[in-house]
This record gives sequence, C-alpha cells and structure tokens, in this order.
Amino acid sequence: MQMKLTIAGSGSYLPPTTVENRDFTRIVDTSDEWIRSRTGIFRRHFSDGELTVEMGVKAAEKALADAKLAASELDLILVSSVTPDYVTPTVSCLLQGYLGAAQAFALDINVACSGFVYGLDLAARYLQDPSIRHVLLVASEKLSRVTDFTDRSTCVLFGDGAAAVVLTANGPGEELACCLKADGRQAQALTACYPDRNHPFGAAPASLATPPAGKDRMALRFPQATPFIHMDGREVYRFAVGAIEQGIRAVTASAGYQVEQLDWLIPHQANNRILEAAAKRLNLPMDKVYSCLDEIGNTSSSSVGIALDRCRQQGLLQGGQLVAFSGFGGGLTHGTVLLKI
Ligand code: COA
Repeated sequence: MQMKLTIAGSGSYLPPTTVENRDFTRIVDTSDEWIRSRTGIFRRHFSDGELTVEMGVKAAEKALADAKLAASELDLILVSSVTPDYVTPTVSCLLQGYLGAAQAFALDINVACSGFVYGLDLAARYLQDPSIRHVLLVASEKLSRVTDFTDRSTCVLFGDGAAAVVLTANGPGEELACCLKADGRQAQALTACYPDRNHPFGAAPASLATPPAGKDRMALRFPQATPFIHMDGREVYRFAVGAIEQGIRAVTASAGYQVEQLDWLIPHQANNRILEAAAKRLNLPMDKVYSCLDEIGNTSSSSVGIALDRCRQQGLLQGGQLVAFSGFGGGLTHGTVLLKI
C-alpha cells in the first residue's frame, strides 16, 4: 500500500566520549586489527551519565529546528529504544513533556535494532488519518548500559547515540512498500533480560512456571540470558544477511521496481561484512549502501536514523530518489521500508 510520507527534518546526537578500538585492549584480549577487519568499526561514542531520553531530546530538538516546526505542532511522538531509562514512564512520554508537545500522544516501540524502520512504517500509517499532521520519530540507545565489558565478542561492537525525524503526509514523499517480519523462534540468538525474582515468597520450580519446550514449542527461558547483551554472533550474522536480501527483494518487487533502480540503501549499521555480503547477494554496488559504522559502532535502532541524518547533511538525498531503509536485530526482527523521498 502506498502512503504519503515526507521527511520534513532530521537530527542526530552522539555523546562526546569517544572510545577507539585500541582502548579496548586495556580491558579485554583484542586488537584494533581484529575489530576493524571483522566489523569495520574504528570507534564509538559512550554516554558519560547522559540518559537515553536526554540524548533523544538533543536529536529531537535538531530535527524540529530542521523542519522549522514547534513541538506544540506535533500530533504523535514515537520513540524506539531497547535501553529506556525507566520501566515507567516511557521515553516518549518524558520527551513529550520535556519538549512541551502538549497535543501529541506518545508511544514507545521496542523491536531492537529494527525499531527506526518499524517507526517509519507506523508513522506512515498514522499519517493516513487527517487529524495527524506531524509525527516525531526518535530512536535513542544507551547500549553501554547493557553491555558486558568483560565479553570481548560483544563489547567491541556497540555504541550510544540518538536520531530523530519529523514526518508529515503533507509533501512529495511516499512510502511505496514495506516488509516487516518477526521470528521469535530465533529469540535466543540475541538476549538481555531483567533480573528475575523480586518478591520474598518462594518461587515455583521453573518446570511448573513455564510449559517445557518440546518439538513444536520453543523455550521461553534462555540459560545464557543475563541483564547484559548475549549474542550468538554467527547466527545473527546469517540472519542479518538474509534479512536485508529478503526485505529489499520484497519491497522493490511489491512497488514494481528492480533492485538496481535503488538510489540508496540506508541499512542498520551493525557490521560492514554483513552489508557487503547482502549487497553482493543483491548485486547492489557498495557505493549505494550508506555506511558510517566506522565512526559510531552498532547503536541499535538509532543507527538507521543517524545514517539517514548524515546522508541528508551530506546532501546525498535528492527529491524523487528511491531510498530503502533496512533494520534487523533482536527478537529476532527485521524490517525494510521503501521510500520515494
Ligand atoms: N577480539 C579478538 N578475538 C575475538 C574477539 C575480539 N573482540 N571476539 C571474538 N574473538 C575470537 C573468538 O573468541 C574466536 O576465537 P576462537 O576461534 O579461538 O574461538 C574467533 O575470534 C572467531 O570468532 P567468531 O565468533 O567466529 O568471529 P566472527 O568472524 O564470526 O566475528 C562477529 C564475530 C561478532 C564480529 C560476527 O559474528 C558478527 O558480526 N555477527 C553479527 C553481529 C551483529 O552485528 N549483531 C548485531 C545485529 S543487531
């Protein structure tokens, strides 16, 4: 289904503390060479006490200024985050209150690294309603909060940061197609959990609390899950390459285009090898695949928004171009949206 969707403004924010690959050699057994060659990451930014919502506010204020829009003109605020500051209130409510967006209702999304792309599609659908004129979509992630800095296989991958876009139906842009998917059967590949039991009254044995996993039933308890990110890197790598390919083929076919007609693919910034493998399968030249992960690392759902904002700032996006956005990650989930901007 085609829906009106124009990016009226964008902004992004990275906290000032920069950590180079070589800084990790002081805390785990790794090397700059290993990290660069396996991931393409050179450095990342970490919050030094800034909240997820505070980073989101900075990105949102830039996006509103870019769109020349007052917060009071917003009708909906969507925030994607896997690292909210509170169980309640939501990041989106805090943002709504802080910005003074009194007319806007506010909703948090958590589909891990796919969140910004899911948010684009949700915004397009809400904007079909004429009473909703402006949507602020924010992604803000403080992954350093859930990173195990003793695990060399994950701690070198992640970074913190935020991005925001102002979206409207009143403009030339269109969402031509989307492909949003979830595969809970692969949930165990990427986990981080809350601490479990808090009440003082004795717990039921695990076997009573959850139906046991069987042939047709997946486990709901993952022995490897801790409050820190745990990842089966190879599984996620395989999933990610397939997800980008499946999503791009689906949205181009559904909108009646060939893959080679894409002007840009703006993907989740997780790993350059993932992007190269997917581009090869799609026969898409790498100069159409935007990458800035060397500077930011994997910032989960913020990364597509940060990449989008950088593309706009660098003047790479022009009206009428075909731009695909692709996100993939925990859940497992993936999402692709095709825009004519
Ligand atoms: N420094 C040095 N060595 C490291 C290391 C590090 N930071 N992390 C892991 N290694 C070691 C492993 O221990 C292993 O050693 P061993 O062979 O002695 O056991 C070796 O490097 C190879 O590990 P492997 O997991 O096979 O590496 P890989 O080539 O698959 O690369 C990832 C690891 C994580 C970079 C890769 O699997 C990946 O990118 N996965 C997708 C991750 C991702 O992007 N997730 C986010 C999606 S939202």
